[in-house]
Amino acid sequence: MFANVVFRQLFDVASSTYTYVVGDPQSLEAVIIDTVFEQHFRDRALVEELGLKLFAVLDTHCHADHVTGAWLMQQATSCRIGISKRYGDAVQGADLRFDRGGRIPIGERYLEVRATPGHTDGCVTYVTDDHRMAFTGDCLLIRGAGRCDFQQGNAGTLYRSIPSRSSACRTTARSFPAMITAGAPCLRSARSARIIRASAGRPTSATLSASWKT
Ligand SMILES: [Fe+2]
Repeated sequence: MFANVVFRQLFDVASSTYTYVVGDPQSLEAVIIDTVFEQHFRDRALVEELGLKLFAVLDTHCHADHVTGAWLMQQATSCRIGISKRYGDAVQGADLRFDRGGRIPIGERYLEVRATPGHTDGCVTYVTDDHRMAFTGDCLLIRGAGRCDFQQGNAGTLYRSIPSRSSACRTTARSFPAMITAGAPCLRSARSARIIRASAGRPTSATLSASWKT
């Protein structure tokens, strides 16, 4: 439990992928973000252990380094599959197609959707409704950013999607990337305010006060 959110971070060693479970502690509705095909049984066991009801399995983008576990999770739990609509027909079987400004309900809570293209056209960042947590996919990593030399990548677009270049931004959220970079720890503070503000149309001044531990 953390900041009134059920939260778990999981890691797949083979692909260096982080998977996140985010849930509403009141209703126990939840989403799982960036699943890995080979880790389906691990993820499903955790969801069952926590007594969560999955509303959706979400991907921050189309992954080139691993196969998503989204379809397996949908078959097992009847949850929805969510991903950016910018991939068009290249992605089949998704129930939720969103873009900037979208909202994904999690019981009484919700995730806001920010479009953060550059690594791929359809990259999005999911931000909790209290703006304390940002799941940045491969847009913003720890001490790095996603590659942009293939699958629609564009360095300039990615640069504009990354918050830390702005001196005006403030640290108002913790950034949770989709994968680890060499030698870097996760759960590290990152300047995500600009991502949060970019599509919300409203400023945020919240400052994280919770104690974060790996
Ligand atoms: Fe990626």
